[in-house]
Amino acid sequence: PETDPFVYVDQHVKGRKHQTLTTVRDTRKNQEEHSVFVSGIKPEISQTDISEYFQQFGAVTDVIMDKGKGVFAIVQFSETESIQAALSCVEHRMKGLKLRVKPREKKEFKLIPKKKNNPQNLQQVLDRLRPDLCQLGSVRALKLVNIQILWLNDKKNQRFSVFNITWVTDSQILPFGSSVNTFGVHSCDLDLFLDLENTKVFQARAKSSTEQAGEGVSDDAHSEDSILSDIDLSTASPAEVLDLVATILKRCVPSVHKVHVVSTARLPVVKFHHHELNLQGDITLNNRLGVRNTRFLQLCSGVEERLRPLVYTIRYWAKQKQLAGNPSGSGPLLNNYALTLLVFFYLQNCDPPVLPTVDQLRDMSCEEEECVIEGWNCTFPSQPIAVPPCKNTQDLCNITKPPCFLSSGSLLAGFFSFYAQFDFAGSVISLREGRALPITKFLSQNKQDETMQEEQPTKSHLPGPKLGPLNLLDPFELSHNVAGNLNERSHRSFLKECQEADKYCRSLQYQHKSTKGKSWGLVRLLTPHMEVQQTKPEQLAISIPFKATSLPEKLQDELQVAGDGFRLLWFQKVCCAVEVVLKTVLKCLLHAPADAVFREDPAAAEGTETASASFNSLNDSTESADSQGEVTVGAKRPLSSGSDCSVSPQGKKPRLAKRGHHEVPPWTCAQKHMVWAGRRRVRRELMKDAECKPEGSCVDLESQVSAYIVEKEPGLKQPLEFKVQPQMVGGTENTKALLKMEPSSDGAGVFQDFFHFLEVFLPKMVETVLEKGGGGS
Ligand code: UTP
Repeated sequence: PETDPFVYVDQHVKGRKHQTLTTVRDTRKNQEEHSVFVSGIKPEISQTDISEYFQQFGAVTDVIMDKGKGVFAIVQFSETESIQAALSCVEHRMKGLKLRVKPREKKEFKLIPKKKNNPQNLQQVLDRLRPDLCQLGSVRALKLVNIQILWLNDKKNQRFSVFNITWVTDSQILPFGSSVNTFGVHSCDLDLFLDLENTKVFQARAKSSTEQAGEGVSDDAHSEDSILSDIDLSTASPAEVLDLVATILKRCVPSVHKVHVVSTARLPVVKFHHHELNLQGDITLNNRLGVRNTRFLQLCSGVEERLRPLVYTIRYWAKQKQLAGNPSGSGPLLNNYALTLLVFFYLQNCDPPVLPTVDQLRDMSCEEEECVIEGWNCTFPSQPIAVPPCKNTQDLCNITKPPCFLSSGSLLAGFFSFYAQFDFAGSVISLREGRALPITKFLSQNKQDETMQEEQPTKSHLPGPKLGPLNLLDPFELSHNVAGNLNERSHRSFLKECQEADKYCRSLQYQHKSTKGKSWGLVRLLTPHMEVQQTKPEQLAISIPFKATSLPEKLQDELQVAGDGFRLLWFQKVCCAVEVVLKTVLKCLLHAPADAVFREDPAAAEGTETASASFNSLNDSTESADSQGEVTVGAKRPLSSGSDCSVSPQGKKPRLAKRGHHEVPPWTCAQKHMVWAGRRRVRRELMKDAECKPEGSCVDLESQVSAYIVEKEPGLKQPLEFKVQPQMVGGTENTKALLKMEPSSDGAGVFQDFFHFLEVFLPKMVETVLEKGGGGS
């Protein structure tokens, strides 16, 4: 019988049956009343020595010793009077040792039997375990949790180490992520997946046999050999299980500290730090997909030897530029997994491809390799040998070669150039298909996603991925955007750094040693603050970015129907909205050429040539997007054929053009009044007591403000005349509408003021007009 928590835990580990509350409580009380706590013992003292010594105070029924350390014992008498006798003895000396004898602490020890669906269950388990675990010496603690650490140091390359923990439970703990995926560096995080499936099965079986045996305690019913099975896994939430795991780590595992649960993460996690190994560790539950995608990374690095150095370089670059790595595990920066997938996707899109698509890998696998996890098809070959070598021979930017061999045609430089021109706003990156899918396919979250439907017939009505500034689908869990945590700012930094690196890789500075002793080549590329010339912002252009998720639902639907031609349709709507703003809201006089014919922007077309042929561009359109008969998207043609189409500013006369960017003949505009000056004051006046609306949020109000200025304020001595030339960018770049502005007559010198006002006002107002359905539909 277990009077002591120590003994209780000991027996618990041996798989002892749980007793009913009354029995345990009675036994415990009885034991406490009959025993004393003895300390000051040395390991050489045996159980028999103690028993013999304490016989002088009364009959001894049991001696329980702390065998691991041998520093204390519980001595149990058959009569309670013996306790008093032992305690009243002034000094206890035995074999030259001075023993301390104390009464047992009276502790409320509640063992509450498991109840079905009892939400308190975990708390009770924790409450029960806490005092017990606190009293355990570390050696004994290892009886509960056996920690086995294997440092596998690769002598040739000290960078890669494997750290493995084994828990003595029904469960198993599997490493995943960088410690095993071949992309780890020394001291990388240790990601662990605690697989409780066996424990669950065991529990379910035990439960059903208890039920069959009725209320009584069946022999098998609560047979337990791990702390984790103290929780009913069928009802406990992941956070509850992780709480228990955290407690075990804190109390039982030597050298582990800073243990805390992050339950707000997509996959709740217990974080800890291993002091001795100086390692940061994460334990998650239900992460079979993580283990599988780790296998996928392993496979790819086995297939393509340039992959690892490239991933390392990009990771290092991203770290230097503060683009990746969220210190606390969550944050707005890219995580290493997302960054690695970006490299994979780029390699799938090289010409010829360096890596096959995930779909192709699935086709290369055999029947036994078929793997479906949580409904997602995760099939790929288990051995790299199953994947035919690629035909791409591009240089990696091999660091063993003298830097003068670095060429802009290297895979490294290609990565930057690929993403510098990538249409993040209009695309969802799919490693499965190895191409960028139009974002409009994913706009309606609740509609069934066609791709997933084809792939995952069982996964109907799945929520779509969380869309953001960078959309990168997990190769297997297709409803997960692995870059969904990025905010606009971190995405902008990523894009900017790619553009700068792209430019730098094309420069002589990258390829030739500096004669002035300046840093050059890779060194400069990988220094934290690269002094790369800032690209001058386009001074007189107003940019209206494509923000798929903030568009009104009706427009999202229309864009969805437009398929790959969604950019043009959106551009047309924006042009119409701009017209409304200039004409109706700002009271400009607008004049457009009678027959607006689309023409190609030579500067922009240049950029198109560097685009990868695998991008989805307008040219791949297969569908006719006919919104009110205004836009007809070109028939299916390969990018190389360079077919395209555009719309007029008024969105009335679509024409087929030749290349990726679209520029239409300008509007000629005139403004006789300073409609930009003093708007806030006029707005307040017009609103009077009504609730003040923010600038640009109401078409009627803003039109009234302009009308008021036109009517009440003195006009310009000389009217301002200017041109506005709308241009659509996208397909090979972030989708946006650019409005290039140029003054043609500015006698009053007010163009700059007007332009600065428009820079802020126009995008907001266009958004409002689009919301109101004023985008020409
Ligand atoms: P990390 O982003 O931590 O990558 O994801 P890493 O390679 O391990 O890098 P460090 O050194 O720890 O920072 C770890 C693992 O978590 C899974 C993947 O298996 C990845 O390898 N993971 C991560 C996902 O499955 N999905 C995600 O969105 C993120």
